[in-house]
Amino acid sequence: MPISPARRAAFGVLLRINQTDAFVDEMLHGRLFESLSPRDSGLAMEIVLGTLRQQQVLDTLLEQALGRPLSKLDAEVLTALRLGAYQMRYLDRIPERAAVSESVELIKQGRKRSAAGLVNAALRKLPQRPAADVELRLAAPNWLALRWERHYGAEQAGKIAAASIERPATYLRLSPTLEPEALTQRLEAEGVVTEPTELLSARKVLSGAVEQTACWKDGLVRIQDLGAQMIAPLLELTAEHTLLDLCAAPGGKSAQAAAIRGTAKGIVACDRHLHRLRILRHLSTEQFELVALDAAQSLPFQRKFDRVLVDAPCSGTGTLARNPDLKWRLREEDLPLLVKRQEKILANALASLAPNGIAVYATCSLEPEENMSVVEAVLAAKPGWRVSKRLDRLPGRDAGDGFFAVQIIAA
Ligand SMILES: C[S@@+](CC[C@H](N)C(=O)[O-])C[C@H]1O[C@@H](n2cnc3c(N)ncnc32)[C@H](O)[C@@H]1O
Repeated sequence: MPISPARRAAFGVLLRINQTDAFVDEMLHGRLFESLSPRDSGLAMEIVLGTLRQQQVLDTLLEQALGRPLSKLDAEVLTALRLGAYQMRYLDRIPERAAVSESVELIKQGRKRSAAGLVNAALRKLPQRPAADVELRLAAPNWLALRWERHYGAEQAGKIAAASIERPATYLRLSPTLEPEALTQRLEAEGVVTEPTELLSARKVLSGAVEQTACWKDGLVRIQDLGAQMIAPLLELTAEHTLLDLCAAPGGKSAQAAAIRGTAKGIVACDRHLHRLRILRHLSTEQFELVALDAAQSLPFQRKFDRVLVDAPCSGTGTLARNPDLKWRLREEDLPLLVKRQEKILANALASLAPNGIAVYATCSLEPEENMSVVEAVLAAKPGWRVSKRLDRLPGRDAGDGFFAVQIIAA
């Protein structure tokens, strides 16, 4: 029996994530998805992200169906079970029969023929979805949910968990070269319906295929989360300012900075993994200066910059709806290591900032240790430097992903 391209791709991505340290965000832009039609790609993406978002619920249902823990199952078998269970319990438009038989087929073709009977039996016995409060309790690992409760209170922690299992909205950043009103009308004429947000330059997509439009192809709109769009403006950039972006990949904020300044000239975009700069690659990159470096080591620049951005590598707990793999990968003991690296990067960044310059330190983490604590620790050694603006975005309270950012003014 043939397997649909969408399910085959979804299985491949989920298996890679299960077996390696590959990130879902990159996998969804990678090889396994390249050959899919837009329709198949949409379905595969829905299956991958939904399966990861609800992984703990699915595992609970599968354990009940199997009558034993899942820990001894091969990665292929576990992946086929989760993917089948997600389609059966969360996707209305997929007949249960198809979900079961394709999961069985994935296992047969994946050289795990002996487990085909087990997959078939477990999926046929799969219980119904649990009540909403149970689902919410299983939305994140317990240690993470407890942290949110400690830091934000039970009610907000519940909202964060609920937001993390929802399909996130798509937001557009409008080019400053056109009036927002005119651009919105152009989008609408091309079948993309949007609504306003807190930012005049950002719209929430209600329907339509943005990437098929001329507006997209002409670079008049870019997809960027609403909270993410609030960080580059803290740099208070003009075309005269030089900018060092130390953790630039995939390139969203460098691209936004170039749009604000009207030019990419004078922007040095760095990353430890330059090959991940996929957003800048779509732009004309010739004006960006691209540098591969480890920003936690001393930096190779002699000159100072008017503006420095540290969009630090972090736990990503503010973006779990978009990056649901992170919550199952992260362990509490990873946090001190992340913090150490963040402190080194920020200290190096401040050493490259010109007098009276502005640095912005940002994360997409909800964990206070990665946020204000890092800033306070680094500024403790910089008398006269000060934090002048602070941004806190919480999922479930604010639209879009969760972010933290501060504007730091050099002495
Ligand atoms: C939050 S992401 C940056 C997102 C980016 N600013 C944007 O808006 O598209 C953090 C980035 O830091 C990079 N990174 C991780 N460790 C690093 C290091 N030691 N030095 C430089 N970059 C690093 C990662 O490759 C990742 O691309």
